[in-house]
Amino acid sequence: MNLPTERLRYSGVKRIQERSFRDVRHKDRLYLGNPPKAQSEGGRYRGNRDLSYYIANLPTFEELTFFDHARNKTDDSEEVRVLDIGCGEGLALAELKQKLPEVKAFGISATDMRVITPPDDLKPYVDSIDYRIGDAHKLKDIFRGESFDYIISTKTFIHLGDPFRVLKQCYRLLKTGGIAFIEDPGFWLTAREFSKLQQFWESQGVKAELHGLLSMSSEEITQLAAAFPVFNNTRSDFHIAIQRSPEAPRLPMPFKYVKSQFDLSNIGHSKPYVFNLDIGN
Ligand SMILES: C[S@@+](CC[C@H](N)C(=O)[O-])C[C@H]1O[C@@H](n2cnc3c(N)ncnc32)[C@H](O)[C@@H]1O
Repeated sequence: MNLPTERLRYSGVKRIQERSFRDVRHKDRLYLGNPPKAQSEGGRYRGNRDLSYYIANLPTFEELTFFDHARNKTDDSEEVRVLDIGCGEGLALAELKQKLPEVKAFGISATDMRVITPPDDLKPYVDSIDYRIGDAHKLKDIFRGESFDYIISTKTFIHLGDPFRVLKQCYRLLKTGGIAFIEDPGFWLTAREFSKLQQFWESQGVKAELHGLLSMSSEEITQLAAAFPVFNNTRSDFHIAIQRSPEAPRLPMPFKYVKSQFDLSNIGHSKPYVFNLDIGN
């Protein structure tokens, strides 16, 4: 896929939106090797969620939303750098810029999903977005030399062929103390794995918050599993907020992918792979 090295100017959108999002999704799969999805997803490949969706659905970190963190950061920084992975139309970034002028907004999308005519109130902000087209699996190359205070991503990691690889690259692109907020990172954990993973990262000096099962905390999930042992064996998705630690310049990952025997399509996603968590009992 052709990766532009310079940002695309929003006002320069030439693409005619002749393709439906369903076709765009198909193209993403074809070119990027993203895994096929359950039929149930059909028609729901949207790229236009607004900032309020991001704020409401991304996990919090230390009980603050990504927007709270970014706003607080503007108190002591002239520029707050935010990257949206799988930014779709990119208008959530424009809204962020509208609300927090100190934000320098970057987005990456597999396909150009920018709209030709942005809403009037966002028009003054769209051209400041550094919108790139490329495969998130090559994030480090696409954003070589850049670093970010915050990385955000909604409804994207579930489409990725190797979400671990992308998560690791996100971590590398964060400034020390920077935080990535990822909705549905695209892999599933049992309650036991969930808290083991959190403990593992903690032991490596990395602070990560995993929110899952209806936004319950790790402790609540452990309690739930104690009361209902079925949760010990049931993998479910979760959201992750992870902060780059000065002690760990790279994200330690106790995973390896194994081909799954499970067909998860009955729960809405048919990811062909799960992982082995190799962090002992
Ligand atoms: C369902 S849309 C979500 C858009 C937006 N975040 C939202 O919530 O409305 C998925 C986005 O991820 C992008 N995407 C999917 N696979 C990708 C990949 N491998 N690399 C980069 N972007 C990818 C798509 O091009 C699209 O922009």
